[in-house]
Amino acid sequence: MLVATIMDGKALAARVRSEVAEDVRELGGLGLATVLVGDDPASQIYIRNKHRAADEVGIAATDKRLPDGTTEEELIEAVEELNEDDSVDGILVQTPIPGGIDEARVMRAIDPTKDVDGLHPFNAGQLYLGEPTYVGATPLGVIALLDEYGIQLEGARAVVVGRSVIVGKPMAHLLLQANATVTICHSRTLELGARTREADVLVVAVGHASLVTPEMVKPGAAVVDVGMNRTEEGLRGDVDPAVADVAGYITPVPGGVGPMTIATLLRNAVRAARYRRGVLAFPRT
Ligand SMILES: NC(=O)c1ccc[n+]([C@@H]2O[C@H](COP(=O)([O-])OP(=O)(O)OC[C@H]3O[C@@H](n4cnc5c(N)ncnc54)[C@H](OP(=O)(O)O)[C@@H]3O)[C@@H](O)[C@H]2O)c1
Repeated sequence: MLVATIMDGKALAARVRSEVAEDVRELGGLGLATVLVGDDPASQIYIRNKHRAADEVGIAATDKRLPDGTTEEELIEAVEELNEDDSVDGILVQTPIPGGIDEARVMRAIDPTKDVDGLHPFNAGQLYLGEPTYVGATPLGVIALLDEYGIQLEGARAVVVGRSVIVGKPMAHLLLQANATVTICHSRTLELGARTREADVLVVAVGHASLVTPEMVKPGAAVVDVGMNRTEEGLRGDVDPAVADVAGYITPVPGGVGPMTIATLLRNAVRAARYRRGVLAFPRT
């Protein structure tokens, strides 16, 4: 018996994309560059989806591809070229980067004013300080979706499962900033179910199909499933679909966080153009 309200990321993302298209028209166009190293099939799909979405809203997207075996120096050189390129407002380096390349060093090479994923330490530090500039598209998209459905964050017990740099950590910071009481769980967390059952708002970003089962969820909780797991039965989230019988709100997979991530990336590209054109002040000095 399904009780949860489905948080429709696809519908909200469509609205965000049309707002972005309007913003892009007002700005007279903008440029977004993605960098992809190697031929990981999942990364190729993400890049393709991002480009398709960018094209649709009138963003000029540059698709920089580097072969497997690209060295760290070569990748950093490619990033530096994009830093210098005046037609590029925003830069995104797709992760994971293969070949033992130091991802943190690559992120440090991105001009912070163009860092649409918020992974340069300056932008990650701004988030830590509670003064966000760029924040990654996935956690920002999750907040927009929770907001759309009127989920109260202030005073709520929020539990984030996963502490990655791209999702879990920035997610926890945004929830903290929204005045939730935040717990971060990870692979060494003891009694995960006891922790997740405390959550009024539960965000799961692990990469393990159906990790979260109905017994692990507080009745009525808002559950956000960031996971995207390719299984024999198709794309599955980190949350067992039966959780919809217990939760108050839930995001579907697909059609929840995924479309919000792409739409929010486009929104971050608009932010990039505003920073670079002085419409918004980038807090650097
Ligand atoms: N929908 C979207 O737009 C979108 C965007 C990004 C990612 N994703 C998906 O979200 C998932 C997570 O991505 P990610 O990049 O954050 O992954 P990641 O870098 O692999 O991080 C996974 C996190 O989960 C934790 N973890 C692993 N096993 C666990 C367990 N049994 N119990 C509790 N925590 C556990 C890990 O803990 P440790 O830190 O202790 O290792 C780690 O912090 C993936 O399925 C990915 O495809 C979706």
